[in-house]
Amino acid sequence: MNQNPKRYTITAALPYTNGPVHIGHLAGVYVPSDIYARFQRLQGNDVAFVCGSDEHGVPITIKAKKEGITPQQVVDKYHAIIKQSFEDFGITFDNYSRTSAKVHHDTASEFFKKLYDDGKFVEEVTEQLYDPEANQFLADRFIVGTCPKCGFEESYGDQCENCGTSHNATDLINPKSAISGNTPELKETKHWFLPLDQYEPFLKEWVLKSHKKDWKTNVYGQCKSWIDDGLRPRAVTRDLDWGIPVPVEGAEGKVLYVWFDAPIGYISATKEWAAREGKDWEPYWKSEDTKLLHFIGKDNIVFHCIIFPSMLKADGSYIMPDNVPANEFLNLEGNKISTSKNWAVWLHEYLEEFPNQQDVLRYVLTANAPETKDNDFTWADFQQRNNSELVAIFGNFINRVTVLTHKYYDGVVPAPSSFSEVDQQTLKELKAYPDVIASSIERYRFREAQAELMNVARLGNKYLADEEPWKTIKTDEARTQTVMYVALQIAAALAVLSEPFLPFTSRKLKDILNVTLSGVEGSLSWNSVSTDDTLVPNGHTINKSELLFSKIEDEQVQHQLDKLAASKKANASENTAQATTVTPQKDMIQFDDFTKLDMRVGTILEAEKMPKTKKLLVLKVDTGIDVRTIVSGIAESFTPEEIVGKQVTVLVNLAPRALRGVESQGMILMTENPDGKLVFVNPDTSGVGNGATIN
Ligand code: 2FM
Ligand code: ZN
Repeated sequence: MNQNPKRYTITAALPYTNGPVHIGHLAGVYVPSDIYARFQRLQGNDVAFVCGSDEHGVPITIKAKKEGITPQQVVDKYHAIIKQSFEDFGITFDNYSRTSAKVHHDTASEFFKKLYDDGKFVEEVTEQLYDPEANQFLADRFIVGTCPKCGFEESYGDQCENCGTSHNATDLINPKSAISGNTPELKETKHWFLPLDQYEPFLKEWVLKSHKKDWKTNVYGQCKSWIDDGLRPRAVTRDLDWGIPVPVEGAEGKVLYVWFDAPIGYISATKEWAAREGKDWEPYWKSEDTKLLHFIGKDNIVFHCIIFPSMLKADGSYIMPDNVPANEFLNLEGNKISTSKNWAVWLHEYLEEFPNQQDVLRYVLTANAPETKDNDFTWADFQQRNNSELVAIFGNFINRVTVLTHKYYDGVVPAPSSFSEVDQQTLKELKAYPDVIASSIERYRFREAQAELMNVARLGNKYLADEEPWKTIKTDEARTQTVMYVALQIAAALAVLSEPFLPFTSRKLKDILNVTLSGVEGSLSWNSVSTDDTLVPNGHTINKSELLFSKIEDEQVQHQLDKLAASKKANASENTAQATTVTPQKDMIQFDDFTKLDMRVGTILEAEKMPKTKKLLVLKVDTGIDVRTIVSGIAESFTPEEIVGKQVTVLVNLAPRALRGVESQGMILMTENPDGKLVFVNPDTSGVGNGATIN
């Protein structure tokens, strides 16, 4: 019994409800948070582990439009699938809620209202991007443009997926409506802003000073860079019709920004759970002796370390997160996981193909977790880790112990006689593992923790291999009993220590060892592995031996690779089809409009990559009029070397604009070939000098 249980509120990022969940989600957020929550429960601590579906936001309305159904139908469908996947993979949320729940609408509205009443928002009429054709304002994912920070050309209105920067839609360069493709207009509208600039002193103190040492460097580094760049007020309301209505007068047709309401979802999920359990939710969010932790992916850092804490601070009655152990991203077979390209391993599909093998995936994703850098999931590694680690080390040890116990003693744990030095040393080593594993888990190093768990199985294997009970059984009855007794203690320790990582295996192993039926489980706690000499007593009967893991065959792996290859092929032909789809003609213009464009033949004299960007090249171009600098987003299609000396078409009278601090004085005309590679638009200009006009 833990005499002094500690209270933990553990949150896992609410998944967007516009598609099922895949291995990237599991590896980045849900497996690590589940390991942590299970571990804390095993310590006898008081845990509220909460999550739920993030059901508002633009991607859901886009999906609904595409499928010709309502946003509610979209979220109902995926909420059910996602919830089922989490259950299937043994993610032990105390509550999995949803942001369309009444308790959440009420909680988020009240949260906003309190801040509003306390004068924490700045109310302002500003010009926002508007698509007259679609007759709506363009927020967040309704708008795409060039990121002002890194030059990525497909940044969304609220966040750039390339560099992670969170910005206002009006900051985008060359914005385009994601609905019509048109360049938006600016139109006045009233919104409520959270003045993040006012929270800078608090954030500097709380994040930069207090958490310099204990937060992961990737998390701390991102926070530092945002705070150092200077924070600006952020609109927390939107002109949309899907979401939580802004609960104040004069806000008709406006809803809360999805990133304002979603993190409040953690609070409403806790409330819903507490009401069900007959508990008080408030200590889980307001008591200083509660440890609040947010498990998220790296794209969510700014929202959990800057914006949500500022909201909590503005309210004034909440505690701050103790840690935000964000993971990096998991790639799949060398490529970024992508829902739209079907480049993913979907959890519900995995289970159809690997039934009852949830723990294998949990194991591989933890062994390869993107804890400090992006990592790659490959099916070959999946097979190898299963066959040479789970089967050959863990499974093999348990199988040998249980089979021999049945063979020699009819399944009854034998009585040990005197312990040899090796026995004592082995039992001593075993007793050290709970602390070793715990220390890694407490520091959010789940890969390391799981590797230590495997060392327990290795310890068992080595012990059996060295002590050879299959030989001593012929010569020394007493020695064999002692060896099998020690090996059974290791097996029991594995049943306990594997629970956070491999919960299905742990359950199965407990069943095999019969530690539930005999009532021994009460004494089988995490700490008892360190303190008790006996985990399974002699005289106790174990159940029939069963294999914990089974080999994964080459054909199974090949089938998965074939599926991915099919996705790749489908994407390639879709790209070709798209590229050959001709975009409709734009509106008529007059001859005068055309003559306003001054296009010249020019030559690229110099080219170099813009530092810290993927797409931009800085060019020096001889336009015949002058030699000028043009920043062009072509670095993914050309190396600097291959374009120097090339004759190109330049729009020379485009108003200059700054990209990453470099003024671009014109534009080079490009088009895209069916493979998505950019190509220059230059008719045969051999013999034509720089500066020749195009008309
Ligand atoms: O990135 C995402 O998938 C978001 N739906 C995470 C939201 S976390 C939260 F609720 F704060
Ligand atoms: Zn960017």
